[in-house]
Formats: sequence, structure tokens, C-alpha cells
Amino acid sequence: MPKGRTCSYIALMKTTGMGLGPRRLQKKLFLTEARWVLRPSGCMAQLGFDHDNVHLHSVETSSLTSDMRRSSMTYRLFEGKQHAEEYLKFRVSPPDHLIQKVVDFVEKKKGRPFDLALDVGCGSGQGSVLLAKHFASVVATDISPAQIEMAMAVPNVTYKVSTAEDLPTPSGSVDLVTAMSAFHWFDRPRFLQEAHRVLKPRGCLALLNYTLNMELNREGCCSDTLNAICEEFYVALRKHVSAHLGTTSKPLYQESYEAIPYPDKEWHDCLRVSKTVPLSGFIGMVESFSSYQTLLKKDPVEARRLSDQTTNRLMSAMKVTSPDTEVVVDVKYFYVLACKPAED
Ligand SMILES: C[S@@+](CC[C@H](N)C(=O)[O-])C[C@H]1O[C@@H](n2cnc3c(N)ncnc32)[C@H](O)[C@@H]1O
Repeated sequence: MPKGRTCSYIALMKTTGMGLGPRRLQKKLFLTEARWVLRPSGCMAQLGFDHDNVHLHSVETSSLTSDMRRSSMTYRLFEGKQHAEEYLKFRVSPPDHLIQKVVDFVEKKKGRPFDLALDVGCGSGQGSVLLAKHFASVVATDISPAQIEMAMAVPNVTYKVSTAEDLPTPSGSVDLVTAMSAFHWFDRPRFLQEAHRVLKPRGCLALLNYTLNMELNREGCCSDTLNAICEEFYVALRKHVSAHLGTTSKPLYQESYEAIPYPDKEWHDCLRVSKTVPLSGFIGMVESFSSYQTLLKKDPVEARRLSDQTTNRLMSAMKVTSPDTEVVVDVKYFYVLACKPAED
């Protein structure tokens, strides 16, 4: 194949025993070659046969080139199609009033117009669509093609497969960069550098996350009993939290907050958000955590047993028989807001 970026699409068929897929040692070499033959907007797709499933993995050239530059700092725990589906169904969206606090910060620090927001690590777009109400357009990016495939279509939101460390927007073009429950997965110093590059002068950065120890309440029930059962569920899952995160993500945010070199920045430690959901929805939310998904891959029987046992214990403590029973979940958000100085 001649070099010079003439090719729009590369397909790789990975068939057991035939050795056609890129092997580990050859992968780097292959990616270098792919980079040279693909057009700037060209795509690569890899078809893998895994038991009875066929997986299609495709990346745009922008993420392909950045993949090559990335070190071992890539944590791709949100790739499965089923995980993406669970995400879309159960994931907690940031509440409107938290989004409003972010928008108020941009209004106060930078002022209008609100042309472009960039939502990085957007998953299936839960937060991106909320930003779309406030900004003329939103670019929402995620490293996972499966998440982007599931993302919610809204006219002024454009979804792209792209890494946080190599953002797909021009320098000085963005009013607001957000990362909602995603920043802890990134190569944080590189992402912060990229966010700085793409932000307009006085543009703002918002990093949102919530702690995993969500609290459960139901009128007429002892919340201590319910939360003791939930805590056992969380403790069992903590063993499967990625080593990259440590036991909890909050210190990573605090550390990055200290490192952000903007004088105009704010740390918000706890914003409680109550949501009424069916008990099965609460269990679904916990099952969408990467720690549960890791256990599910390692030991699906144990993962199922754990969530069924937790559901049954909670139902028995509430003296109900249906997982559709409504419960109130208290989610505790923490967040960072920062404003890029007018002059570098
Ligand atoms: C916990 S999910 C959050 C999704 C969504 N923002 C939300 O609020 O539900 C984290 C997302 O970050 C994405 N992600 C992880 N590392 C990334 C990286 N280096 N670049 C871009 N996205 C990344 C994952 O694929 C996943 O969809």
C-alpha cells in the first residue's frame, strides 16, 4: 500500500489459529503503518471472534495516532457493549442544579456567548445532553466506541471517539471543558494540558464526580440497616476497583485541584443529590461501576450471586417482595471549577 494517507478504511479479521490479527509485538509496527496509509478521517476496524460473539472495534485516525503516543496510562474498562447498555439504562446523570452551578460559573467568569462545550469521557452522553440546553453546540468525546454507539442523539451534540489526552477541537475554541465521572480514568496531567490548549481565554474547566458509597433510604425503614447491607456490597466490590484509582477517587481530584495553575478555582466537597428509583435501578447503578464489571468478567457467578443476595437482603429489610419497590438514593457529588486566565 503506498504511503501518503490514501486509504479510508482498514479492516482486520482476527481469526483463531490463522495469525492474521496483529500480535502483541507486531502491533506497534502495524499501528505505525496504519497511521501512514490512513486518510486524516480514515477508520480502522478490528473484527474479533470471541466464543460466540463477534466484536467490532473501530477507531478514528485521531484516536489511533494518540493510542500510539499513549503510555501505559490507558484504562479501558468501559468497552463492552453490554456495559454500555447498562450505562445508558442505569447511570446517574448529574442533576440539573449541578449543571446550573457549572453554567453559572462560566457566566460569572467568562460571560456569554456560550458557543461550545466539550464533554470529555462522555460515556453514553448523560451529561452532554444536559449541557446542550445551555450551549450552541456540544462536542462529546469518549475513548470507547461502544459508549459512543449508545449515546443519546440530540441535534446540537456531536459525538466523537477520541482520547482525553488528544482532544479533537482547535486551540482556543472552547468555552467549557467538562469531565463527568471520567477525569480519574485519564492521564490527568496530559488531559489538563489539552484542556488548557482548547479553552478560550477565560474559558472554564469543570471536573465532576461522586463517591461510590451512595446511601439508600425508604420511608418507614431503618436506613442504618439498609446502608449496612449496601456497605457490605461496596466492600466486596472494593477488591475489584482498578489499582489506578486506589480505594477512592476523591484524593486524585484533590491532588489535581492543587496542581491546576489557575488562580481562579474552586473545590466543592459535597453536594447531596436524592433520586427516587426502583430498587432494581439502584442495583443496576452499582452494577454499572467498573469494579462490578471487573468482577463480572472474572467470576460471573459470584457477581450475580452478590447482587441477587444484596437485592434479597434489602427487600427483606424493607419487608417488600418486589425489586420494583421505590427507594431514595443519596448520591454525594464533589467537583472542581477553574477558569483559564485571560492571558497565558
Ligand atoms: C464512569 S464513565 C462516565 C461517563 C459519563 N460522563 C457519565 O457521567 O456517566 C467514564 C468514561 O470515561 C471514558 N474514558 C476513560 N478513559 C478515557 C480516556 N483516556 N479518554 C477518553 N475517555 C475515556 C470511558 O470510556 C467511560 O465512558
